[in-house]
Amino acid sequence: MAHTPFTELHQEDLASLETNLRDLLAPHLSKKDHLSLLNVACGRGDETGVLAKLLSEKSKSSHLQGLDIRAAEIDQANSRWKDELQKTKEQNTSVDFITHRGDRLLDLAEIGTPDIAFLRHQNYWNDKPVWTQIFDQALERLNDDGLLVITSYFDKEHELAIEALTNLGAVQVGSIINPNSRALSDAPGKSVDKHLAIFQKK
Ligand SMILES: C[S@@+](CC[C@H](N)C(=O)[O-])C[C@H]1O[C@@H](n2cnc3c(N)ncnc32)[C@H](O)[C@@H]1O
Repeated sequence: MAHTPFTELHQEDLASLETNLRDLLAPHLSKKDHLSLLNVACGRGDETGVLAKLLSEKSKSSHLQGLDIRAAEIDQANSRWKDELQKTKEQNTSVDFITHRGDRLLDLAEIGTPDIAFLRHQNYWNDKPVWTQIFDQALERLNDDGLLVITSYFDKEHELAIEALTNLGAVQVGSIINPNSRALSDAPGKSVDKHLAIFQKK
């Protein structure tokens, strides 16, 4: 399997994501002894260190579970983060990445009822029926006070995802337009974590 070298990561993207997520979560995420986060359609989970850091600021221990349909990316995520978090200050965060469909979340009892469902660069407009299921099942999985956070590459895709989540009963409680979003050349109007939005379950 070809591994993408981690040197291709843009650390400035992760720094912006960390700042924006901290601001977005601050008014809504209470401190708890333990917090759990489900990273849905996480790919290789490049943002895992950022998520672990944010969870550690709000809890004594945390669990971060990632899933994606692509096994190669999940293998990379497991081989990188299980070791890497042990070397950092986020030693009280456990991580686990599994290959699984996000539109079959309800089949996975081990996911439990996370405090946060996170979907970075959600892909709603690429397959609306599947992503409607992903959003619906992520909301269903959340605990009653749970928060769902999305980021999006495109303006229109973000608008459509907000509409879909609202139609599923989620209530938007915050949003950020990323002032440091890095433009990508592979599609017009595409840029990294361009929009972020946070929802409560009801
Ligand atoms: C735009 S990428 C974002 C990946 C990652 N979150 C990031 O920001 O780099 C969308 C991801 O959705 C995943 N995906 C697509 N359909 C899926 C499904 N039904 N269940 C789980 N993951 C899915 C893809 O494999 C891909 O990793």
